[in-house]
Amino acid sequence: MQRILVTGGAGFIGSNFVHHLVDHTDAVVTVLDKLTYAASTDALEGLPEGRVSLVVGDVADQPLVHELVGRHDAVVHFAAESHNDNSLTEPGPFIQTNIVGTFCLLEAARQHGVRLHHVSTDEVYGDLELDDPQRFTEHTPYNPSSPYSAAKAGSDHLVRAWVRSFGVTATISNCSNNYGPWQHVEKFIPRQITNVLDGDRPKVYGTGTNVRDWIHAADHSAAVWTILERGRIGETYLIGADGEKNNLEVVRLILEQLGRPADDYDLVTDRAGHDLRYAIDSTKLRDELGWTPSYRDFEAGLAATVEWYRDHEAWWRPHKAATEAGYAAKGQA
Ligand code: NAD
Ligand code: DAU
Repeated sequence: MQRILVTGGAGFIGSNFVHHLVDHTDAVVTVLDKLTYAASTDALEGLPEGRVSLVVGDVADQPLVHELVGRHDAVVHFAAESHNDNSLTEPGPFIQTNIVGTFCLLEAARQHGVRLHHVSTDEVYGDLELDDPQRFTEHTPYNPSSPYSAAKAGSDHLVRAWVRSFGVTATISNCSNNYGPWQHVEKFIPRQITNVLDGDRPKVYGTGTNVRDWIHAADHSAAVWTILERGRIGETYLIGADGEKNNLEVVRLILEQLGRPADDYDLVTDRAGHDLRYAIDSTKLRDELGWTPSYRDFEAGLAATVEWYRDHEAWWRPHKAATEAGYAAKGQA
C-alpha cells in the first residue's frame, strides 16, 4: 500500500494519523478535507511536501471522490461532523457528511476496487449502566442516542452492506474517547483545560458521573494502521485502552495539574440524551492483530496534553470565545 487517501486528515485524529503514516511507513498521503471549523492545517505543517498533499473538498462530492479514490491504493475515512452537542443544535450536516459522504466513498471504492477503512465510534452502541460488568464488544447491538451517533451508526451499516452485497474490501473500527494535542476547544478535555488557563471554572454537565473510556489519539492512529495492514476484510475491531474515568475525576485532575482547588468547577445544564457510560473491550484487536496502547498512564498523558494547550494558546485562542458563546446560549457556560 503506497498511496493512501485520508479523509478528514486536517482534523484532530486524522492529522495525528497522517503524522503516524509519515513517521512509521513509506506511504504517500493525500488528505481530502473540507476544512470545516474543526479542521486545522497547522496540524499538518512541517510534513514533507513529497509525502503529504492536501485537497480541499467534500467527501459528499461524488465526482471529486471518484477521481481521488481511483488514484489511491487505500482510503482511511475519518471525515465526519464529530461533536454531539452540535448534532443536537443542527443535525443536518451530520446526515450529509457522515452518511452521504460515506456512501460516496463506498461507491468509489466499489467502482475502483480500492481498500477502505472506516473510522467509527463506540457511541453506536448507546450507553452502559455504571455498574454493568459488560463492556462493548464487536457483538454489542447498535443503539445510538444522538443524531451524531445515529449518523455514525448509519455509516457503519452502509459499510457492512457494501462489503456483503458488492464485495467492497473494507474494515471498520469503533474507538472510545480520544484526547491529545490539536483537539478543538469545543470538546470536553480541551474546553476544561482552556477554561482553567483563562482563569474560568470548568463546566461539567449534569452531575459529572458520566464515564468515558479515554485513549490517546496516537494509540488510535496506531490501531487504525494495524487494522489497515493486517485486519480481516469485512471485520469490525473495537479500539480502547482501558481508560474509564468519570467526568468529575478528569476535571479534578486538570484542576490539580494547573494548581487550582479540585472542587473549583461548575455543574451546568446537562446534554439532552446524555449517554451515561462507554467502555470498550478491545480483546479482539489485541489478540488477533497484536495491538497494544502505548499511553497506559492517563494522568501522565493528560498532564502532557495540559502542557500542550499551555504552549499552543495562539492556536486555540481564535476559537475560544465563539465556542464559549455557543455554550452560553444553551445554558452550559
Ligand atoms: P474532528 O471534528 O476533529 O475532524 C473532522 C475533520 O473532518 C475536520 O478536519 C473536518 O474539516 C473534516 N470534514 C468534516 N466534514 C467534511 C466533509 N464533508 N468532507 C471532507 N472533510 C470533512 O473529528 P475527530 O475527533 O478527529 O474525529 C475523526 C473521526 O474519528 C470521526 O469519524 C469520528 O466519528 C471518529 N471518532 C472520534 C473519536 C473522538 O474521540 N474524537 C472517537 C472515536 C471515533
Ligand atoms: O466515544 C467516542 C466519541 O467521543 C466520539 O465519537 C466523538 O466524536 C467525540 O466527540 C466524543 O464524544 P463525547 O460526547 O463523549 O465527547 P465530549 O468531549 O463532547 O464529552 C465528553 C464527556 O464530557 C461527556 O460525558 C459530556 C461531558 N461534557 C462535555 C463538555 C463539552 C461536560 O461535562 N462538559 C462539557 O463542557
